[in-house]
Amino acid sequence: MNVLVTGVTGFVGDRLVPALRSAGHDVSALVRNTDAYVPRDGVTVFQGDVLEPETLEGVLADIDAAYYLIHAMGGGAGFEERDRQGARNFAEAADAAGVDRIIYLSGLGVDGEDLSAHLRSRREIEEVLGEGEYDLTVLRAAIIIGDGSASFQIIRQLSSQLPVMITPRWVSTRVQPIAISDVIAYLVGILDVPETAGETYQIGGPDVLTYRDILVETGQILTGRKPIIVPVPILTPRLSAYWVDLVTNVPAGVAYPLIDGMATDVVVTDDRLESLVPVDRTPFEIAVRRALEERDSD
Ligand SMILES: NC(=O)c1ccc[n+]([C@@H]2O[C@H](COP(=O)([O-])OP(=O)(O)OC[C@H]3O[C@@H](n4cnc5c(N)ncnc54)[C@H](OP(=O)(O)O)[C@@H]3O)[C@@H](O)[C@H]2O)c1
Repeated sequence: MNVLVTGVTGFVGDRLVPALRSAGHDVSALVRNTDAYVPRDGVTVFQGDVLEPETLEGVLADIDAAYYLIHAMGGGAGFEERDRQGARNFAEAADAAGVDRIIYLSGLGVDGEDLSAHLRSRREIEEVLGEGEYDLTVLRAAIIIGDGSASFQIIRQLSSQLPVMITPRWVSTRVQPIAISDVIAYLVGILDVPETAGETYQIGGPDVLTYRDILVETGQILTGRKPIIVPVPILTPRLSAYWVDLVTNVPAGVAYPLIDGMATDVVVTDDRLESLVPVDRTPFEIAVRRALEERDSD
């Protein structure tokens, strides 16, 4: 199949490209800054920015399926509007080129008023991409465990640096993290299952944990001792983000939307994809150990 991957300089896209090549697909990559991307063997690179629709002309010609893995959050405030506009431009370009399928990796969490601005924006992109003529497949995931994931970076740095942590109430909310290798297996696997076209699925690892469990287990793996967590109900997500900014190298502008999303449960409530794309899911502890090994080998 001819496949285009966007977001290839990002955490997920960078890993998806070699997996698609190994599965026998012809892969093209869309990159904003070609100097920042060293293409893998056999990958065709296109320079393009979804906020500049004229740069998308010709990129999607002959493409059967495109992966939309773009996220403007790294660019700071106003990411909602940039993400909305970028998705709209991409959907129009895909329609004009006659692309059959788009696959989008979104965020897990129950729709409703409690959904954070970040998760609401991820959901809005589902709607924007859903307006195209092609079949859209959406996979919704909670925190992805792997080296380079912004949310895992916060957890790793907090649990390794602080023996005692003051945290907001959200340490008790439930989350179903997933290993990056499992996310990649689902993203590649759905291409071979035609009935997944046009559907929305939830994906998660085998363990449902609280953020407290995640911080404690990661701290134990990293330092050999369990950090002490002290929840403080009055600590707001914004204050926590400033604190994360001080203690880790994740900027407050990235930390705030992620921390804000930690107030609501993010667990899989619909496991239909498991029977369609069987994946031997990675336990949380192994996913963390692999992420740390990958980091050490860099
Ligand atoms: N990481 C997680 O834990 C997690 C969890 C659930 C869902 N997801 C979803 O997975 C997807 C990918 O996330 P990620 O963690 O891989 O994100 P990421 O590491 O922040 O990568 C974002 C990518 O988007 C590209 N991009 C941003 N603006 C662009 C534009 N205007 N035109 C073209 N490319 C642009 C960036 O390219 P530059 O290098 O040029 O900036 C980068 O390659 C997102 O949809 C996210 O919501 C991630």
